[in-house]
Amino acid sequence: MKIMVVYDSRTGNTGKMAAAIAEGARSSAGAEVEVKKLGEPFPLRALGEADAVLFGSPSHYGNVTDGMRGFMSNLGEYVKSGKMSVKGSRAAIFGSYGWDGAWVMEEKLKGMVQELGYEVQEKVLVETGTNIQYSADKHTEKWKNFGADFVKSIA
Ligand SMILES: Cc1cc2nc3c(=O)[nH]c(=O)nc-3n(C[C@H](O)[C@H](O)[C@H](O)COP(=O)(O)O)c2cc1C
Repeated sequence: MKIMVVYDSRTGNTGKMAAAIAEGARSSAGAEVEVKKLGEPFPLRALGEADAVLFGSPSHYGNVTDGMRGFMSNLGEYVKSGKMSVKGSRAAIFGSYGWDGAWVMEEKLKGMVQELGYEVQEKVLVETGTNIQYSADKHTEKWKNFGADFVKSIA
């Protein structure tokens, strides 16, 4: 099973979550997991070839990052043009925020991914940046479990 983790991160918090989620996903037998931070080159068609994708972003000024927004827009056009289909493919959402931005992942990013045609897992994983900066060890297990549980749910 091919799983992709595609995320954005400016100060590294969401990156730590992405790494732990990928580690958890890899713990499931047969899961091949690729992690891509926006800005790294990769062909969009890799998303179409994946069985499932986990999308992650920090909250920036009441939205996902400009990078993630641009990526979603490009992906939307790519799908609309018929170059790739995601109909029925599974997805999950995660991300980090500083103050009140959990809704950005729970509503905005989730909505963007659903709009593309993905079947998005109900549970969204959000974490405050403070927890990640000052006590990441305490929370890593939760992120690994999120990745592992997601893979189990689609197996
Ligand atoms: C430019 C900027 C804007 C931000 N805007 C918000 C916001 O609107 N709401 C919020 O809860 N946190 C906001 N934050 C805090 C980040 O979401 C938080 O620190 C997050 O963990 C950063 O993730 P990263 O380390 O992966 O970049 C903002 C941070 C930055 C740098």
